[in-house]
Amino acid sequence: MDAKAKPYPTHPAAQEPAARGDAISGDRYWCKHFADREWRHMWTRIWHVGGRESQLPEPGDFIVHNFRHESVLMVRQKDGSIKAFFNVCMHRGNQLVSAEEGGLDRFTCPDHGWQWALDGELTWVQDPENFPQGNPCGKLRLKELPCDTWGGFVFWSFDPEAKPLLEYLDPIPTLLGNRDLESHVRVVWCTLRVNTNWKFASDNFNEAYHIPAVHPQFMPMIDDHYSTTVFEMYPSGHNRMIEKLQPSSRLSPEEDMQPLWEEVLKAWDINPDDYRGRAQEARLALQKARRETGPERGMRYFDNLLDDELTDQMHHTVFPNLTLTGTPEGLHVFRTEPDADDPNWSTFDYWYLAPPIEGNPEVATLFGMRPFAEAAHESGSYTDYEASIDQGDFLTQDLSLAETQQRGLRSMAFQDCYLSGQETRVRRFHEVLNDYLEGRR
Ligand code: FES
Ligand SMILES: [Fe+2]
Repeated sequence: MDAKAKPYPTHPAAQEPAARGDAISGDRYWCKHFADREWRHMWTRIWHVGGRESQLPEPGDFIVHNFRHESVLMVRQKDGSIKAFFNVCMHRGNQLVSAEEGGLDRFTCPDHGWQWALDGELTWVQDPENFPQGNPCGKLRLKELPCDTWGGFVFWSFDPEAKPLLEYLDPIPTLLGNRDLESHVRVVWCTLRVNTNWKFASDNFNEAYHIPAVHPQFMPMIDDHYSTTVFEMYPSGHNRMIEKLQPSSRLSPEEDMQPLWEEVLKAWDINPDDYRGRAQEARLALQKARRETGPERGMRYFDNLLDDELTDQMHHTVFPNLTLTGTPEGLHVFRTEPDADDPNWSTFDYWYLAPPIEGNPEVATLFGMRPFAEAAHESGSYTDYEASIDQGDFLTQDLSLAETQQRGLRSMAFQDCYLSGQETRVRRFHEVLNDYLEGRR
């Protein structure tokens, strides 16, 4: 196998994986002092994804995003734009809204009834004449935060000086540019509480080295071998990994055509017998079949995808806590957030965004068939959810490991990782984090 044979288009800013070698010490995962530094120097500076524009069809529609001890309100304005505010009344600090989403024509504080317009202006108070310093209406506003959208996602930042969103995300919007993400529908919206530090997700999804041990069920159809995987890192701190949809290069020719791969091929009228002993070559046949017959099966969006995008798994890691995995079927979104007080706990959001397929009222998801419609929010422990796909429950596999890893990282025995080359993005992630903590970003 020629490790240099990389048929993928790469971004001009992509670098071969390289890292300085900063230690990944255990305290990063459980020490409160470290979590506070993350808060002060990183979380207060980055862009956060807060929801989907589809949650805000009408003026007055709002989303509340609680992050650590803060709460942010995103509100559709009368002119169609979206503004974000701290969810805090400027009278005596009561939280304005406790619902997670909804629609209102103004925000009325439950404490003393002050009324705030959708654009954050204070429009009514009780007894305005009784303020020696003057009527607060027209003077006070809700405290506003930078807010912008990309791909149907609503983003906000705590940092009034935040660089423009597209500059921050670069080059991820370009890399996902063939997918019309605005038209995608969030058919799964799930928030799971996990007994682990938030960084488990960045670590876990920044490498495919764990696949043979943790998800051997993928090997018949996803090539986890580093020699065929593309690893790219960008100056912005984001990165990407592309795994080919084909049997793992670890499988011998005698075992390369397994039932899972056979089913994938048969679904596109490809005869698996034609590819026994050279099962990886069926990937190109699959691209051809999807190119030719996808649109007539309702997948019109295939016309906009590159050949590689018709098969491969494109994992984009947006620093620090967002993972966007593009597949031919849709976009898997992982968002991990720290607990307000305890670095040993985090929440893991799984959103699955599906493009419209003509004539398909339902879509296959990790959790079975779901209607092609905006999903209601579900939440709980990850043990409450079991994926029901042929490839097995990879999410539970990852999340249960995240918990045992957290326990191991708390041991005084652990000082640093001993990483393989294909795990370089893991170290690179921690180095970008250090850049924030130590004032280099
Ligand atoms: S705290 Fe909001 S009206 Fe008093
Ligand atoms: Fe995994």
